[in-house]
Amino acid sequence: MKLQPLLAAIAFLILLLSVFLHVIADLDSDRQALLDFAESVPHIRKLNWNLALPICKSWAGIACNKDGTRVIAIHLPAVGLFGPIPANSIGKLDALKVLSLRANYLNGSVPSDLLSIPSLQSVYLQHNSFSGDIPVSLSPRLGVLDLSFNSFTGEIPSTIKNLTRLSVLNLQFNSLTGEIPSLDTLRLTNLNLSYNMLNGSVPDPLQKFPLTSFAGNSHLCGTPLNSCSSTPSPSPAADGSAIPEKQKAVHSKKLSTGIIIAIVVVVSLVMFLLVLVISFCCLKKKVSHSTSIIKEKVANGGRSEKPEDFGSGVPDAEKNKLVFFEGCSYSFNLEDLLRASAEVLGKGSYGTAYKAVLDEATIVVVKRLREVGVAKKEFEQHMEIVGRAGRHPNIVPLRAYYYSKDEKLLVNEYMPAGSLSAALHGINC
Ligand SMILES: *[C@@H]1O[C@H](CO)[C@@H](O)[C@H](O)[C@H]1NC(C)=O
Ligand SMILES: *[C@@H]1O[C@H](CO)[C@@H](O)[C@H](O)[C@H]1NC(C)=O
Ligand SMILES: *[C@@H]1O[C@H](CO)[C@@H](O)[C@H](O)[C@H]1NC(C)=O
Ligand SMILES: *[C@@H]1O[C@H](CO)[C@@H](O)[C@H](O)[C@H]1NC(C)=O
Repeated sequence: MKLQPLLAAIAFLILLLSVFLHVIADLDSDRQALLDFAESVPHIRKLNWNLALPICKSWAGIACNKDGTRVIAIHLPAVGLFGPIPANSIGKLDALKVLSLRANYLNGSVPSDLLSIPSLQSVYLQHNSFSGDIPVSLSPRLGVLDLSFNSFTGEIPSTIKNLTRLSVLNLQFNSLTGEIPSLDTLRLTNLNLSYNMLNGSVPDPLQKFPLTSFAGNSHLCGTPLNSCSSTPSPSPAADGSAIPEKQKAVHSKKLSTGIIIAIVVVVSLVMFLLVLVISFCCLKKKVSHSTSIIKEKVANGGRSEKPEDFGSGVPDAEKNKLVFFEGCSYSFNLEDLLRASAEVLGKGSYGTAYKAVLDEATIVVVKRLREVGVAKKEFEQHMEIVGRAGRHPNIVPLRAYYYSKDEKLLVNEYMPAGSLSAALHGINC
């Protein structure tokens, strides 16, 4: 009679135990997968991954879910990882949501088990040396896929059409060939396929993206590029330089004087307009330069999820003049910084401080100095002194600065409350 409740209790205990063991086993297998990865991928900066430290609390670049039972994010940007990623390492982390290994020296092909992890949402593998095809099997939850600045070849896999949550797709600066698949653009806000070897026409749904999303693909046509219709087959007529000299001479003889006069008039008109536009632009630049570089985004209700473009008044030539201090492995440039979503942290007498989120692995504090009228040399000397002081472990380190006549920016590490210890152990930079 008392047997039934006893059996029920035992069954319940067994169930509880198996759930518990299952959880332990999952974290154990995550840990083993990461150790396998660290062992087979050489890295320049040391990783503090060992069994003596708790994986969720102390391992550099690793984040777990709230109850500490699974690894959900890997952030190892610019830690000097090199060589290929072995299969059966990171690919085994089947609760992973964010994978950021950008700005390393990883090469070889991306193992097929990596981007197909079903929980995966954000992938940042830009600025590596990956080659081979983009894996066909992709997680259906992918929202961000950044494979730019690598050496991927082959076609863009057509499975990308099925990614209904995709909002950012960056594939610029690879060697991708073939035609662009017609993507589901319901959520797609950022698309960059520039500087590849793609051909064919831009699919209708993608024609709303700007020219710079497709630039540098010489065999691609259609809005927003040149129209395709006139030259279905590769014809030399499309390119003036390909016409032999003889033929050109024949052509010019056939031109009547009327046409020549018309051409001269049109050309001089265009030149005049060009001069007008250029002088107008110069004038405008002078005015806009004194207004804001980082447009303030007043935080009334939190940040938006998608990356926002903070258009800048900085001339193109100046966009790489961010000066980094020694021993800092940040790998962004001024352009990245200006584009990052920013949030005002506070305003003081010296100027305004912003929190800039470059991606979830890189958060910095940018101080924009107001009315500092020092010469460049003097400013740089001062920065050197501040930069040296920053090597002291008790001072929030200055990582980089930017100087121009109109704008002076200081870039500090971002220290969220309570993570000083993390900062001291070099996780943030
Ligand atoms: C990857 O890089 C290493 C050196 O860092 C080199 O020895 C190896 O050949 C490269 N592999 C590929 C596939 O490019
Ligand atoms: C996309 O998904 C549909 C079903 O949802 C499937 O039939 C099709 O094969 C998938 N296409 C690719 C290229 O994976
Ligand atoms: C694009 O290039 C591929 C080879 O890479 C070729 O097979 C295909 O026919 C080309 N498509 C167009 C529209 O030119
Ligand atoms: C695409 O990438 C190129 C190179 O980084 C950049 O110049 C261009 O502005 C980008 N286009 C868009 C739409 O982001």
